[in-house]
Amino acid sequence: MNILILGSGGREHALAWATLQNPKCDKLIVAPGNAGIAAIAECADLNILNAGAVAEFCTENAIEFVIIGPEAPLATGVADRLREAGLLVFGPSAAAARLEASKAFTKDICDAVGAPTAAWARFTDAEAARAYILTQGAPIVIKADGLAAGKGVIVAMSLDDALAGVDAIFTDFGGPGAEVVIEEFMTGEEASFFVLVDGDTVLPIGTAQDHKRVGDGDTGPNTGGMGAYSPAPVLTDAVATRALDTIIRPTMAEMARRGTPYQGVLYAGLMIADGIPRLVEYNARFGDPECQVLMMRLGAQAFDLIHACAEGRLAGAQVTWADDHALTVVMAADGYPGTPRKGSVIGGLDALPESSHAMVFHAGTVAQDGQIIANGGRVLNVTARGATLREARDRAYTMVDAIDWPEGFCRRDIGWRALT
Ligand code: AMP
Ligand code: GLY
Repeated sequence: MNILILGSGGREHALAWATLQNPKCDKLIVAPGNAGIAAIAECADLNILNAGAVAEFCTENAIEFVIIGPEAPLATGVADRLREAGLLVFGPSAAAARLEASKAFTKDICDAVGAPTAAWARFTDAEAARAYILTQGAPIVIKADGLAAGKGVIVAMSLDDALAGVDAIFTDFGGPGAEVVIEEFMTGEEASFFVLVDGDTVLPIGTAQDHKRVGDGDTGPNTGGMGAYSPAPVLTDAVATRALDTIIRPTMAEMARRGTPYQGVLYAGLMIADGIPRLVEYNARFGDPECQVLMMRLGAQAFDLIHACAEGRLAGAQVTWADDHALTVVMAADGYPGTPRKGSVIGGLDALPESSHAMVFHAGTVAQDGQIIANGGRVLNVTARGATLREARDRAYTMVDAIDWPEGFCRRDIGWRALT
C-alpha cells in the first residue's frame, strides 16, 4: 500500500517506524514530518489542516491510506473530506472527534450512558461560573471548552486560583461562545488506556502512564508530557475490563446510536481509585509520547491493527502481546514549557545503537548542513524496550547520556511510580 501519515512529532515518527516494519507498506510519505522522520521516509511539505490540499496530494501520489496523527486536522474534518474523496482513513470524523474537541460534549455523552466521571456543570457566563465555584469550594477543576493545546485546564487547589482560572478562560479563550466546564476534583492515580474502535468493535491495544510536570518528582508547570511507559501497572486487567464495560463501550455505543460512530484510536484518560476507573477525558488520537512506547511494544502488527480498524475489521483482529515493557524519555529544549530555545545542535545521535528495542524518535528537529537542530519544545523521545521496566529505563537513559546536547534537558525519574 501507499500510505500517508499526517503530523510532525514523535508520535508520527513512531507510527512511521512501526508502519515501515510491516510488509504491507510499499511507499510511505509523512507530511510534514521532521528530520528524524526524513531519515526513514519521504517527507512532504503540506498544510495538513487543508483537507483539499491533502486530498489532491493523495491523488497525485497514488496514496491509498491516510493515518492522521494529531487532533487539529481531525477536529476540522480532514478525515471526513478524505473519506468523501474515496480514501481509506484512520481517524475519526469531526463529529466523533468532538469527544476530544469539546469537554462538555463528552460530559453529556457520559451522563447519557451513566459512565463514571467527575460531577460537572457548564457555564457561558463568568458571573454564574464564579457563583457556582463558591458553592462547591476547592479543590476544583476549571476547563475551557474546546481544543486548547493542553493549556485550557486549571486544577485549582484554592478558591482564589479557581476564580482566577474562570477569569483567564473568559479573557484568554473568550469572545462570544466561550464556555467553561467546572468539575469535581478527582483523586487517585491517572493512567491512559488506548483502544481502537471501528465504529462498532472496541479493541484494547495498550496502557501507559505519562509524566505531565516538567520537573523531577512531578514538580513545576504542566507540559505535553515529559516521558511515558507501558504497561501502566495501575491499569490491571480488572480495571481495564471495568473501564471497557462502564465507560468505553457504552460511550462508543452512544456515539453510534447518535449517528456519529467513532473510528480510530480512542485514548481514555482515567483516574483510578480503589480499583474503580473514572473518565478524566477522551482524546481522539494517540497520546504523545504514549504512542512511542505503544509502537515500540506492538512493532509491525501496529499497522495491521490500524489498517483493520480503518476497514472495519476489528472483530476479527487480535493483538499479540509480548510480556515486555517500554519507556520513553522526552528531551526538551531549555525554556520548555515556556519559550524553548531553538536552533541548538544535537550531537551523538549517529553513534546510538538503534534497533527494534531502542529508538530515538524525533519530535521537534530539522536537518541543516548535515546536522540535527532543535526546532521545538519537546525535541527527542529516547525510547527503549526491555523484559522489565527497569531494563527499558536503563537502556533509555544510557542513550540519553550518549546524546550530546547541552541546550536540552530531561527528567531523570521517568517510570518512578512503577519502579518504587
Ligand atoms: P485534561 O486536559 O482534561 O486531561 O486535563 C489535564 C489534566 O488535569 C489531567 O491529566 C489531570 O491530571 C487533571 N485533571 C483534569 N480533570 C480533573 C479532575 N476532574 N480531577 C482531577 N484532576 C483532573
Ligand atoms: N501526553 C499527553 C497527550 O498526548 O495528550
